[in-house]
Amino acid sequence: MPLNAETLPSAAPLPGLPEWTGFCEAAHQSDRYALDLHCLKAAGLQVDLSGQRHSPELQAAGAALLAARHFDTARKQLLNGGIVNGTEQRAAWHSALRAPAPTAEVAKERERMNEFVRVADSERRWRNIIHIGIGGSDWGVRLSLAAFGYRHSWRNVRFLANIDGHALEHALSGMDPHDTLIVIASKSFTTTETLKNGQRALEWLQAAGVANPYEQIVAVTARPETASNWGIPQKNVFQFWDWVGGRFSLWSAVSLTTALAVSSDVVAGMLSGAAAMDQHFQEAPIASNVPVQMALAGVVNRSVLGYGSLNISPYDFRLGNLVPYIQQLDMESLGKSVTTSGEPVGIATGAAVWGLAGTDAQHTFYQWLHQGSDGAPVDFIVCQQADHNQVEHHNLLLANCLAQREALMRGKTYEQALAECEQQGLGEQAAELAHHRVHSGGRPNTLIVLPRLNPFSLGALLALYEHKIFVQALIWGINPFDQWGVEYGKVLANGILQELSGEKKVSAEHDASTRHWIKIFQG
Ligand code: F6P
Repeated sequence: MPLNAETLPSAAPLPGLPEWTGFCEAAHQSDRYALDLHCLKAAGLQVDLSGQRHSPELQAAGAALLAARHFDTARKQLLNGGIVNGTEQRAAWHSALRAPAPTAEVAKERERMNEFVRVADSERRWRNIIHIGIGGSDWGVRLSLAAFGYRHSWRNVRFLANIDGHALEHALSGMDPHDTLIVIASKSFTTTETLKNGQRALEWLQAAGVANPYEQIVAVTARPETASNWGIPQKNVFQFWDWVGGRFSLWSAVSLTTALAVSSDVVAGMLSGAAAMDQHFQEAPIASNVPVQMALAGVVNRSVLGYGSLNISPYDFRLGNLVPYIQQLDMESLGKSVTTSGEPVGIATGAAVWGLAGTDAQHTFYQWLHQGSDGAPVDFIVCQQADHNQVEHHNLLLANCLAQREALMRGKTYEQALAECEQQGLGEQAAELAHHRVHSGGRPNTLIVLPRLNPFSLGALLALYEHKIFVQALIWGINPFDQWGVEYGKVLANGILQELSGEKKVSAEHDASTRHWIKIFQG
């Protein structure tokens, strides 16, 4: 694939830039939240940013900051396959996987995947699927299946990500090995969890007397030769490429499991929705560019107002897995504290992402959001139309979403709380009890409304977050496409494993506590 070899220029730390100072001043001076409606549209989604800091001055300062970070060039580089991941000298060209007119090699793999599904469906094969993969090789498929496979499907899918043997036993239990397809998804085809779990699944097929167990295993990877060497026949190996980051691999044949479980049309719809968001990101002016506006709000919340986390509250049962999906996308991308030029960033970067589907969230942690000392910005995500006939339920869901959001924005003053207590006839206690009912309000939030949950809208939503995260990284001057922190942990785990099994002496380089526990766990 001809990639654009140009590299992004290294970024200097923000604190020295006059555009950053201007942005911070404008953010401090802007309203706590907009008094007027500030609602934008992109790829069929409506995104209401009225709950974020907003003013004409902040808009202008945001545009100046983006110009200082060469936003136009960087966006072009990203979308044209330029080297945007400097530490690994790679592109992050996931958008090429969903391009309406893809390159020949992308189209070929897509067609191979669709053909595999057509044949399996026509032969009514693979009643069971075990999808083995972790992180980006797992969450996107789980998310898609929860979103579109919540009703009964004739294929039964289990996920196996964790190295924990309990997870392995759970995945295999009750499955018929003779009608089970094992999908091993791993970009690197070196991830310990995935390879060990894959090996156990192979042994499970062998132990059941399956005639040709490798025929029942497929691999999706950027290292097709490694998968073939592992024993998987070439016709069962689906490829993606080095220029697709693991956390973006949902757009590749990693979604084979989704196609088998809920149809290739679902995968195609998600690709189209994401492509529509790519186009919006590429073409919309800054003031109406939704990923850009969400990113600017994200930078204000994190680096100017000091919020340490971002809450994701999807008011849709089917989107429960959106939380871990965005968690990986955002935290693996933005959990960095040096600039692309290797200097300390000098300000707070990526926030912790957490959440739960509404309304469960309300009964779990919303008290903290309303009246806790820290609070957190919230992304509310809701569908205008439901896909069930329980009108009352959907109205209740929508009402709860809007009400929580309004309470977080509006807050409640002491005077209001006192009037409320007096009205309730609390008499002498009113003055004291009123203190407990005060809400600070002004909590930042974004409301994202999908017309309904379909593959197109979900694809658009995921691409929206991808681009938002890219722009935040650009402003902070960090590389959102590597993950050296996770790599460090993997290396240490390999050493400790050898020490636990007695293959290697316990290293004196460990701290006292780690040495202690290695010895205890050695048994
Ligand atoms: O968590 C680190 C990571 O490299 C992720 O980026 C990736 O999604 C995951 O591990 C799995 O990697 P692979 O697809 O190579 O098995």
